[in-house]
Amino acid sequence: MATLTNPTGAPHATVLGVGAYRPRRIVPNAEVVDAIDSSDEWIQQRSGIKTRRWAEPDETVQMMSVEASRIALERAGLDAQQIDCVVVATVSHLLQTPAVAAAIAHELGTEQAAAFDISAACSGFCHGIAMASDFVRAGSARHVLVIGVERLTDILDLTDRGTAFIFADGAGAAVVGPSDTPGIGPVVWGSDGEQFDLIRQREDWRDVVGNPETPGSGVMPHLTMQGNPVFRWASFSMAKIGQQALDRAGVSLDELDVFVPHQANMRIIDAMARAMKLPERVRIARDVADQGNSSAASVPLALERMIAEGEARSGDTALLIAFGAGLSYAAQVVVVP
Ligand code: COA
Repeated sequence: MATLTNPTGAPHATVLGVGAYRPRRIVPNAEVVDAIDSSDEWIQQRSGIKTRRWAEPDETVQMMSVEASRIALERAGLDAQQIDCVVVATVSHLLQTPAVAAAIAHELGTEQAAAFDISAACSGFCHGIAMASDFVRAGSARHVLVIGVERLTDILDLTDRGTAFIFADGAGAAVVGPSDTPGIGPVVWGSDGEQFDLIRQREDWRDVVGNPETPGSGVMPHLTMQGNPVFRWASFSMAKIGQQALDRAGVSLDELDVFVPHQANMRIIDAMARAMKLPERVRIARDVADQGNSSAASVPLALERMIAEGEARSGDTALLIAFGAGLSYAAQVVVVP
């Protein structure tokens, strides 16, 4: 029997650069309230959202991803040819196959990098970072581009009171590569399929198209969410996951500088920070107030903003945690590039 070679990669992996693309259009609460019989005051009080970014027709999933990636590559000091794997986390690329990652890898000018999409909803970016870290350390890739991108407005029912004011569009990207010291801590991730229906696409594509016995709805399947149980789950269960990610990385609360939770809702962010007993000193991402909840893009967008505004500095220790449909979640500690 042949003995296969068993190569290994770098001793450690780290985030080398982060980039972002925010759609041009800023949509205030005033623009969404009429269709859902709501008010600016109600939305701000329940979610902390004042404005959100909604993409215009030219701001496609591919276009936003490429723009965010070019910035991440430049900040990492790398050319696209040095990327050998592209992982795209998204639930709103509406072509079922092929993966948008292949088109993005090509447009960026990679040398035929491995490219694929992952579907883990709002937690997809943190799943991607975990995979990229393992790829680099196992030798499957040297530099991995991880993108979180959504155009949720394509699958949003603007008359749905539970979702229309929450969700948004955008793209964030991070380059993961080799390092002499650990820059990405162990992931804590999981899923709770018992709550599969809490956030979901309303119907599957066959129900839209129909069949000879049952006519299809002919209506685009939209996102639906049971806000209340999602709120309770996220506020109480996710703090424990965040603490586990700190423990697994060997980082104490006193050593934590930055907290970048999924930008779902300001009340969830505050509840998590309280439950985790984060010291006042820890700087907390609050991008949701003017970006809205952009699902897979939310963590990299929030992290990039904190870096750009000097709230997260190179070498800082940051806890990333994301959660959403599935229900799925993933968290890890990273060193800010
Ligand atoms: N505008 C105004 N009033 C609204 C409303 C809206 N958009 N949606 C619901 N209401 C009303 C309801 O009719 C109800 O009125 P009543 O008390 O007179 O019957 C009241 O507000 C409470 O409704 P409820 O559905 O229980 O709201 P809630 O307190 O759960 O708040 C969310 C709704 C969506 C803000 C909240 O559940 C939430 O933030 N969930 C988590 C969502 C999230 O972050 N998801 C992302 C995870 S990835």
